[in-house]
Amino acid sequence: MTAVRALLPSLETARLRLRPFRDADLERLVEVAGQRSIADTTVSVPHPFTAEHGRAWIARCAAEWNAGVAAHFAVALRETPGRLMGYAAVRSIQREHGEGELSFWLDEAHAGAGYATEATGALLAFAFGPLDLNRVCAHHMVRNAASGRVLARIGFRREGLLRQHVRKWDVYEDVLLSAVLREDWMKERAEEAACSSATARTPATLGRQ
Ligand SMILES: CC(C)(COP(=O)(O)OP(=O)(O)OC[C@H]1O[C@@H](n2cnc3c(N)ncnc32)[C@H](O)[C@@H]1OP(=O)(O)O)[C@@H](O)C(=O)NCCC(=O)NCCS
Repeated sequence: MTAVRALLPSLETARLRLRPFRDADLERLVEVAGQRSIADTTVSVPHPFTAEHGRAWIARCAAEWNAGVAAHFAVALRETPGRLMGYAAVRSIQREHGEGELSFWLDEAHAGAGYATEATGALLAFAFGPLDLNRVCAHHMVRNAASGRVLARIGFRREGLLRQHVRKWDVYEDVLLSAVLREDWMKERAEEAACSSATARTPATLGRQ
């Protein structure tokens, strides 16, 4: 008997919904993933990005979740959950090693508002929680400073420089490898919780003195 895998859940943040891709995303997917700025710093997004690529993308997202090797999410604003504005995924999951790789891109019209940081932060909680991973890594081109900032803000540490690791637009590009371990992530969450409970206690404590 074939085991039926649970559906990929939706994740919510303050401003975003991360949800499974659906067929109705095709038009927006072609529009957003087709932006040259997204292809420019990724290796998994073809350019130009055709409807054929879009259909294959949506099918692969479902197939890889069912196979247990990736969790791909369409990213949308909470108030317009049907309108795709980006992508965030943990892919290349190796169960034996408890490892996955983070991947993300965002509509350039929404860049610089902290959305990638928010989406990938939620994804890490999913990776170390329900997905039960031990380590999440990421690769980004050295010239992709925005991606480096996003990763640093959600707790990734740089591990190495992979010289001329990928070829983009016929140019070999240096790539940075970074990762976050579950133990680092848990420690940071615990510190944040301690910090916010101390902040919450302070006014009351002061008020009683
Ligand atoms: C990388 C990407 C996802 C960032 O999305 P975003 O929603 O703008 O990201 P955020 O707003 O959460 O954070 C961006 C950070 O980068 C910084 N940044 C933006 N452009 C920058 C630049 N050119 N140089 C240095 N830092 C830059 C911002 O100041 C911000 O850092 P801060 O919060 O410390 O101020 C988006 O630019 C993108 O889709 N790029 C193309 C695809 C891609 O490269 N994906 C990642 C592949 S590894």
